Amino acid sequence: MQRSMKDEILHRFLNAQGEPISGQQLADDFQVSRTAIWKHLQSLQQEGYTFETIKKRGYKLLAVPDRVDFGQLKQLLTTKRYGQQVHYFERVESTQLVAHDLVRQGVPDGTLVIAEHQTAGRGRMQREWESSEGKGIWMTLIIRPEIAPHQAPQFTLVTAVAVVNAMKASFQNFTPQIKWPNDILVNGKKTTGILTEMIAEENRIQALLIGIGINVNQEQTDFPDALQTIATSVAIEEGQQVDRVQLVAKVLDFLEHYGDHYVKHGFPLIKKLWEEYSCTIGSQVRATTLREVVEGEAIAITDSGVLEIRQANGEIKGVYSADIEIL
Ligand code: BTN
Repeated sequence: MQRSMKDEILHRFLNAQGEPISGQQLADDFQVSRTAIWKHLQSLQQEGYTFETIKKRGYKLLAVPDRVDFGQLKQLLTTKRYGQQVHYFERVESTQLVAHDLVRQGVPDGTLVIAEHQTAGRGRMQREWESSEGKGIWMTLIIRPEIAPHQAPQFTLVTAVAVVNAMKASFQNFTPQIKWPNDILVNGKKTTGILTEMIAEENRIQALLIGIGINVNQEQTDFPDALQTIATSVAIEEGQQVDRVQLVAKVLDFLEHYGDHYVKHGFPLIKKLWEEYSCTIGSQVRATTLREVVEGEAIAITDSGVLEIRQANGEIKGVYSADIEIL
């Protein structure tokens, strides 16, 4: 994963926690002139960053634009592992791609990759994920749980439960619901998608990459035409703009809590909560899989995350991967 020099410089300032960094030091580190460094700082200023020049000490980052400030994130988090290491980017193709690279580098359990903007955000079933700049939470959490590879899909359900809890704890004006397998809907429209990828060797999980995309501060007109009737944001539903850092912290807090619970005690509590928050179970649904269309009442999820649908003829069908319409 290649970061531009400007992103690298920004990364250094964001990690400096308000301490000044000398222009000469940056010039030496990047093997360019001080003028080149100054030009990058000017370009960052145009993007909304504010720097103060401190005599003989260099530049200090004073303010960031409306960004997910991870200095603030660290202070809000109550986790032991999740989000304790953060790789923050202004712009990436996809945080999933960055996470794959980081797994190869051996980063620890709970490492978070977060970006303001994804140019090629990925959704489930090879779809694109619209990730407009500065409006949402686009993040991938790298975890290394001691579970067998076949249990990995359950972690997607753990994640959905955690996101719903984070929203319930943060917002009063709406009720989030889970649509199988992993969409979080509010008033029937999608706020959140979850994409879990696994890197495994034989019978051992090397890492799970939990990608979470939350529409946070978009207005309805920010969504492209194709999403107008199916997507919404937390701000639209809550009726006001929302602090993204606080929501990231809440999601990570609940995710570590329920993730650890799941690894220690298994699936029963997660399954119970998932079914409680679900708008799928008990509804008439149409499931479109790659091979067929199944219609009927969604009656349960199994321990492997399969959705069971009772068809009109009484036959129960298990659906592994599908698009679901609630009828
Ligand atoms: C879905 O199709 O519903 C899943 C969407 C997952 C989107 C998130 S945004 C952060 C992470 N990076 C990606 O490219 N995708 C996931």
